[in-house]
Amino acid sequence: MSRDLPEFGTPQMLEDPFPFFEDKRAQCPVFSVPSRNVHIVTRREDIEFVALHPEIFSNKGRASLETFPGQRYKTMPDLASMDGEEHREVRKAHMAFVSPKRLREMRPAMEAEAHRLIDLFIDQKEIDFIPSFAKPFPAWVMGSALLDLPREMHAQLDIWAVNYFDLFDKNLHRGGTNGPDRRLIDSYVEFTNYCGDLTVSHRENPRDTPLSEFVNTAKSDGELYSIDEMTCFVRLLVVGAQTSTNLMAQALVDAIRLGPQLDITDRRETQKLLDESLRLDGPATYGPRVCTQDVELGGVHLPAGSRIMLAWQSGNRDEATFENPDQLCPNREKLAKQLGYGLGAHRCIGAPLAQLEGEVALQALFGRFKTIRLSDKNDFRHDTSLTSMRNLLALHLELEAA
Ligand code: HEM
Repeated sequence: MSRDLPEFGTPQMLEDPFPFFEDKRAQCPVFSVPSRNVHIVTRREDIEFVALHPEIFSNKGRASLETFPGQRYKTMPDLASMDGEEHREVRKAHMAFVSPKRLREMRPAMEAEAHRLIDLFIDQKEIDFIPSFAKPFPAWVMGSALLDLPREMHAQLDIWAVNYFDLFDKNLHRGGTNGPDRRLIDSYVEFTNYCGDLTVSHRENPRDTPLSEFVNTAKSDGELYSIDEMTCFVRLLVVGAQTSTNLMAQALVDAIRLGPQLDITDRRETQKLLDESLRLDGPATYGPRVCTQDVELGGVHLPAGSRIMLAWQSGNRDEATFENPDQLCPNREKLAKQLGYGLGAHRCIGAPLAQLEGEVALQALFGRFKTIRLSDKNDFRHDTSLTSMRNLLALHLELEAA
């Protein structure tokens, strides 16, 4: 290594992975992490090649499929752990959840919820944006707008989802829960049982909600998905939505930094800001894949069965694609090449929902406050307990109501 940089996966590296990745892209763009039995892919060009060749780089087997004692519903492959035709068909079913029609219908209720949350701190001069808005807003979208659950369940879903990420992190590419953590397993069992019971209830008593439509989607042969399968699909959706919190917080930081350069009332500009925030500092870190055959990637020979992780954040700062990659520039060329939502067959299905949440949030906030400033209290540190996600720990704002 040319510079004195921290090792992969240390808290220091996770806090600021960008110098580490810059070095790797230049020196050894596909590098091995033996302790995790994985190669990390850092250049955007290589990431694109992998994401667009699922026949060589499979999503099957990317995480363990253990069913733990106490689970009333078996662990089955979810959307992110499937390939080919099966993946295409299951993905189509997921679209009921986030169809353009559903999103259009949801928008007024989302706006009302954003304003309800703002009402709770409109008279305060200072807030931490994460617990005041960035956490509860997407939690409401998932819990109420999509799953039709009472408010008291939202915090619980959040705890289950965070624990799920932690468990996923621990067993990622290790073929099992190495030294299983009882607390995380208990949480996974409870979470799975809850999603299973919810699935059963929407099968027995369908309602006009995105969840009911999803749960009762038939396969091309006319059969319904099994309850076990659907349970795991629902669980992944809840977990996937976790990332919206950080996009919202990061996009607000970036919007404040841009100041009057940004016209927040312009929908296109807001969408570009959200994409650029994701490019510069998105929450999703790695996309795991398994090689189905011997392959050469970034000058490295990977035998069949090799496990790799696509470093989205590294690809997003690749100087070969993005000019001045460390600068915030929503009008940059090639913004459409940002990888914050992944790429190819597995690109995030929640992207339109996350973009809508971000737009509604930013427009509501800037509409209600004359000034929103970043407090000097901010150290912009991240939660480094997970390798698979990067979230701001706090975001202190100084506010002046309009
Ligand atoms: C800012 C918010 C979000 C970010 C940055 C994000 C990021 C990502 C990324 C990078 C992938 C691709 C993973 C891979 O290829 O290995 C992905 C997939 C996925 N995301 Fe998101 N996501 C976000 C919001 C959401 C939301 C709100 C939902 C649920 C409604 C969701 C559900 C999913 C699902 C189900 C997949 C798997 C898709 C597939 O395998 O076909 N995501 N997400």
